[in-house]
Amino acid sequence: MLAVCPGSFDPITNGHLDVITRAAAIFEEVLVAVGQNSTKQYLFTEDERIELVQASVAHLPNVRVERLSGLLVDFVNARGGRVLVKGVRFAADFEFELQMANLNSAVGGVETLILPAASQWSTLSSTMVREIAVHGGDVSRFVPKAVAERIRKKSVGKEQLP
Ligand code: PNS
Repeated sequence: MLAVCPGSFDPITNGHLDVITRAAAIFEEVLVAVGQNSTKQYLFTEDERIELVQASVAHLPNVRVERLSGLLVDFVNARGGRVLVKGVRFAADFEFELQMANLNSAVGGVETLILPAASQWSTLSSTMVREIAVHGGDVSRFVPKAVAERIRKKSVGKEQLP
């Protein structure tokens, strides 16, 4: 069975990777859908976010990555999937995901499987990683290697970090 792990991954963190890895141990196939939330501004371009997710899951043979466009439930149904996998850290995540799960079930007949975040990553967020990164801090313990390297290159090359 195919499961879809959606997100904007700006950038992918060890917390995301943990959820994807656990999903890959449960499902035959996992598709990571990298999307754009129209209300958010991103630090990494969509191509960069996809590339960094791809590099981070390269060691997982049953995981692939695709760009998400349009409605998530349409994306899932078009690929013959029926299940979304979401990680939740704390109550606020759960409340949001519950709302999304009900919506995605009603609109597209897609189920949501919620995995509790591993305690080690239970307060980690891409927002915090970005905040540390833009101020030149070390994020290497929070993100996959490819992301840490990209952030290092961005600051070393003095490419503008907003
Ligand atoms: O990491 P995020 O910001 O929670 O990822 C959000 C994303 C891109 C997966 C979400 O905004 C999305 O699914 N967008 C597609 C449009 C859609 O279906 N929205 C309603 C369900 S979330």
